[in-house]
Amino acid sequence: MHKDLVSIDDLEPEEIFELLESGLELKKKRALGIVEPVLQGRTVVMIFEKPSLRTRVTFEVGITQLGGQAIYLQGSDIGLGHRESIADIARNLERWVDGIVARASSHQTVVELARWADTPVINGLTDREHPCQALALAMTLREKKCDLRGLKFAFIGDGNNVAHSFMLLSPKAGMDFVIACPEGYEPDKQITEQTKDLAARFGTSFSIVRDPFEAVKDADVVYTDVWVSMGQESEAVEREKAFRSYQVNRELIDSAEREVLISHCLPAHRGQEITDEVLDGPGSIALDEAENRLHIQKAVMARLFA
Ligand code: CP
Ligand code: NVA
Repeated sequence: MHKDLVSIDDLEPEEIFELLESGLELKKKRALGIVEPVLQGRTVVMIFEKPSLRTRVTFEVGITQLGGQAIYLQGSDIGLGHRESIADIARNLERWVDGIVARASSHQTVVELARWADTPVINGLTDREHPCQALALAMTLREKKCDLRGLKFAFIGDGNNVAHSFMLLSPKAGMDFVIACPEGYEPDKQITEQTKDLAARFGTSFSIVRDPFEAVKDADVVYTDVWVSMGQESEAVEREKAFRSYQVNRELIDSAEREVLISHCLPAHRGQEITDEVLDGPGSIALDEAENRLHIQKAVMARLFA
């Protein structure tokens, strides 16, 4: 396995499936009270440049449950890239800690940390990717649907960090992927090309459409995320206008031919990208996915930090 988890593309399909099995196993063991102290005596530093509820809590709880210790640092505490270069921070940290989890404004920050530190680095969200979220969704689908292969995944909304990680995961997990987004809010071009290559290699489909009803029609899973991601606050007014017809609501869900599972990485802007009725209704797996962040990240840490 790759030293780091910076992008979902760091994982081969078999590694993804191994991690899912390990996440399911760790979840079962936790429920039975079986302790798995693989990080005993180990320390993980968590560097966060952006706010977080789920990522911070699930990593800290996960480290505790695996017997290790977490140190939380805000980006401003260490002056990431200002007080000291990322390379120097990485080369100091590698002398003391066994793992680094980083949530950064720029994807390049996590790439640089991983490049300079011998210590493994896990991406806890950047402007480009959110690999742990994609793994948590995959684990949740494994629980709900058993087999991921052949499922059709419809992402409604912004071609953002979360969409990017799902795009890269889908072909490797054997899932078809469609994103419905307004013009100008498509996924990154390079990730789109990468996904097209992966889809051709693994025999899955990938498309970008404008009409959310077209995307949802034959979907098994419908996903959405905020229209305004962290760091894009100044674009809020124009984004809210552009995404107005991309709300995941009852009408959209009812238009699906099959019964769909619905999810959101959270936090949700209720009444914008998704209605209360859908997020809290039957078919919503958003909280199961949030719960599984804990278990799948424990699986990743057990592989990379132990
Ligand atoms: N989904 C997610 O990463 O949530 P947080 O931003 O609260 O960590
Ligand atoms: N796309 C969102 C995800 C938050 C978990 C953001 O980057 O703010």
